[in-house]
Amino acid sequence: MVKAWIVTGALALCCMAAPIVKAQQKAVDAEGHQWWQHAVFYEIYPRSFADSNNDGVGDLNGIASKLDYLKDLGVDAIWITPCFPSPQVDFGYDVSDYEAIDPMYGTMKDFDHLVSEAKKRNIRVILDFVVNHTSDKHKWFEDSKSSKTAEHRDWYIWRDGKGPGQPPNNWLSTFGLSAWKLDPKTNLYYYHYFYPEQPDLNWRNPAVEKAMLDVTRFWYKRGVAGFRLDAVDTLFEDTKLTDNPVLPGTDKFGRPNMDERYNKKLPEVHDVMRKLRGAAEEYGSVLIGETWTSNVSELKDYYGAKNDELQLPMDLMMTEFKGLSADRYRKHIGAVDAAGAWPTYVITNHDIVRSYTRYADGAHNDDIAKMMAALYLTLRGTAVMYYGEEIGMENNDPKNKDEVQDPIGKLGWPLEKGRDGERTPMQWNDGANAGFSKTKPWLPVPASAKTHNVASEQKDNNSVLSFYRQLLALRHKEPAHRDEAILVVLNMSATEQKVQLDLSPLSFSSPKLSVLLTDFHKPLAGLTDALPMEPYSVFIAKIAK
Ligand code: GLC
Repeated sequence: MVKAWIVTGALALCCMAAPIVKAQQKAVDAEGHQWWQHAVFYEIYPRSFADSNNDGVGDLNGIASKLDYLKDLGVDAIWITPCFPSPQVDFGYDVSDYEAIDPMYGTMKDFDHLVSEAKKRNIRVILDFVVNHTSDKHKWFEDSKSSKTAEHRDWYIWRDGKGPGQPPNNWLSTFGLSAWKLDPKTNLYYYHYFYPEQPDLNWRNPAVEKAMLDVTRFWYKRGVAGFRLDAVDTLFEDTKLTDNPVLPGTDKFGRPNMDERYNKKLPEVHDVMRKLRGAAEEYGSVLIGETWTSNVSELKDYYGAKNDELQLPMDLMMTEFKGLSADRYRKHIGAVDAAGAWPTYVITNHDIVRSYTRYADGAHNDDIAKMMAALYLTLRGTAVMYYGEEIGMENNDPKNKDEVQDPIGKLGWPLEKGRDGERTPMQWNDGANAGFSKTKPWLPVPASAKTHNVASEQKDNNSVLSFYRQLLALRHKEPAHRDEAILVVLNMSATEQKVQLDLSPLSFSSPKLSVLLTDFHKPLAGLTDALPMEPYSVFIAKIAK
């Protein structure tokens, strides 16, 4: 397979590496790819997608009612962020029972219904597995804190303080304050990398490992096609509790910056990834990782030395690029391709400012959204979208502290506003509450819902939504097999660029081009001269020898 890529005029060639095919997983094409390699995953934040019982919070039946929309959009799998029983301190990422559905979202019957309805449409369901911690209301933790000799005592990380009022070491919670909380019952501290209501599990305890692997099997048996693994970096801590080195400067909470070398990314993480993969292989399932890495080589480690860890560790690096620089993207994509593993691209999710808002320049916002879609949805690799991205949803940050729901926003205001802004209700139409619910939703809908919503955009051929649908249709229709290439030209700048299509380096010396998709505002006169790329535009064509 050859896929040609041009970003503002300079060529970058992508070649396909043969993936490892496990016995249990059937190839879906002649090149040995599996379903998840061609798939587009779509992340759903269940609180905010569709509210079927009009209580202001989304639910599973709401999701089921939108499956036709997702099918029509071109989605192959949905990843639902945690929908398990939870006190909702971290909106579901504090799980109090891994093998049930929170009544707020529905019942197990609703879940089974969702899976079977999705299956009819050839859409797989992926769940979110919170591996690092449970809720403090989980029965394991309730027992663990009850006494020093409790059955589950060693399922969490309990340590003596350094002295009166002093935690065991200087580790900090990523959500503010210390990572240790003193529990008066036994007068020992427990460790929590996230909120105090999210105590870290002790993955060095084989009983924890067994219980957690069994959770995955419970869901695989119910028809779940895989998991997105939450916060894998933080599974292990140095057993000697060595203090982290303090760095210059302060963070958003005003605390000293730290080099978290003793409580993050410990090598033992990979043993757990291998074991989770082992369980996934029993059911032919796929594992997606929340893998925050600073470079491609670190990301590569998550596939496993023998391709025996995660099939799809997310490349989250592009979400941290500031501004639009063709050169920066070109280099990154080149490095990912050179690494030879199967990439998983993401530009936004429920923890970061929406891509539409991050890239907007005020003058070409929709064009930029389309251009970024064309960037990551045409690359060789798997793509993970975030709900609302396809209609150009923007962040709707709280305007003052009283409105904030996400606890980190309350603690860190105003430097840290929390993550409410990127989690607002899906915009289905231009009516009340954007058609999400008949009741006031748990988070407010922005004014832009009047223009950026599914119903309006479905009627407009030039909308962001229409562009996404065409792009995803193309992605499914045009595999770019041997002796074919798909040319993707993107203008990442605010000025028109003339692009000379010299494809000789790709051994296409007299190429026949047929245009597949553009978002030009002016009609394209012809392809004989240099290609006039409008600001932030997209040109996709098929090349035949
Ligand atoms: C992950 C989730 C985030 C959550 C955290 C703790 O980073 O994406 O939303 O708050 O883990 O579970």
